[in-house]
Amino acid sequence: MNQFKIISGGGSLQGVLKVPGDKSISHRALLLGSIAEGETTISGFLHSEDPLSTANCLRKLGVKISKIIEGEPFQVIGRGLEGYEEPKEILDCGNSGTTMRLIMGILAYQKGKNFILTGDKSLSERPMGRVCKPLRLMGSKIYGRENGNKAPISVSGENLKGCVIGTPVASAQVKSAILLAGLMASGKTSVIEPASSRDHTERMLKAFGADIQIRGELGRNIVVNSGKSLCGQKVVIPGDISSASFWMIAASIIPNSEITIKNVGLNPTRTGILDVMDMMGCNYQIDQESIIAGERIGDIHIKASTGLNPFVIEGDILPKLIDEIPILTVAACFCGGISEIRDASELRVKETDRLKVMSRQLSKFGAKIEEKEDGLVINGDSEFIGADVDSETDHRVAMSLAVAALLAKGSSKIFRADAANVSYPGFWDNLESLM
Ligand code: S3P
Repeated sequence: MNQFKIISGGGSLQGVLKVPGDKSISHRALLLGSIAEGETTISGFLHSEDPLSTANCLRKLGVKISKIIEGEPFQVIGRGLEGYEEPKEILDCGNSGTTMRLIMGILAYQKGKNFILTGDKSLSERPMGRVCKPLRLMGSKIYGRENGNKAPISVSGENLKGCVIGTPVASAQVKSAILLAGLMASGKTSVIEPASSRDHTERMLKAFGADIQIRGELGRNIVVNSGKSLCGQKVVIPGDISSASFWMIAASIIPNSEITIKNVGLNPTRTGILDVMDMMGCNYQIDQESIIAGERIGDIHIKASTGLNPFVIEGDILPKLIDEIPILTVAACFCGGISEIRDASELRVKETDRLKVMSRQLSKFGAKIEEKEDGLVINGDSEFIGADVDSETDHRVAMSLAVAALLAKGSSKIFRADAANVSYPGFWDNLESLM
């Protein structure tokens, strides 16, 4: 990755676009399709590096997936809950934390079979103990560097037992791994989260026929009863609000911009960015709302605003906008006054340490950001001057820096811009078409 992009500030963004399919839902459609009975048809799939890592791992596990062509529906032939083959090769999860963490939940109960998981440099440094520990409580045998905290990870399939597990962090990846393991664990498996994380797994498991209940205050307790097989489905994947967020913020701040983004997923566990845009006083509207395959979708229409307000992000809203913190950091630099992001230490264990990397890179444009242990304090009165910046291999950093460059005076170079391919391969083309 050494490609760079040159971006000139000024001008406005105009147009109508469709962002690619939701990354979280794309992974889950493949995974549930792979353990269902019969055929699953997936449309709207995100054809990018991360979900393709899941597809590649599943193929090595003997799952038949028809050719995945961008923009075309394809089929997954399920092998049933326990039907994975023991692979001859190591399963390479690439840069994708979702692939590694979710698949561990399924591998854990493939009795008598052994698996080895690996990933790229970034993924190999990310914490896996948060999945390994609860799965071990359920009876799984997982080993890895640092007592199972880091890849390479080995999993040998075992008989699992249902447990009640309180997760210390609100992580949909951890919750999902436990729920998937719960499909084959004896009795009931119950997960209690400290705050609600994205619930795509729960929704999709229900649609595939699993016995799953959402309980407790604000649905933070999810219970799955084992013993039911899953049934292949037709899954229609909406556009990813995390990918839309770059355009939502760019169009809100860049003078005279006006953009419509069609078919965006509006699952309430993902729309924290809209709450922040309300705090900022952004000018946006949602129409054509409907429900498709159990997920709310709609078109988002955004017009530029002036005099945006600073904001504070903290507490239970964090999981609802966890992937939008990099672009919201850029936004905060243009909201007069001081904005604060608190309770965000999870950002330090994403594809990069996003608190550190965003403050390091944005300061090159002239941003005034103070890094705290669990967040950022951002002064919204800075003027950005074009600069040479680096994604540091993180897809969301690359795209956030592109928006920052549009807001800078003069021209900027973004190094390792192709990191965007992890979640949004068409990002640079879409940018060109909107400019
Ligand atoms: C994801 C959950 C989030 C998010 C990631 C995708 C998922 O991670 O940051 O991009 O698909 O479950 P955590 O569960 O680690 O918070």
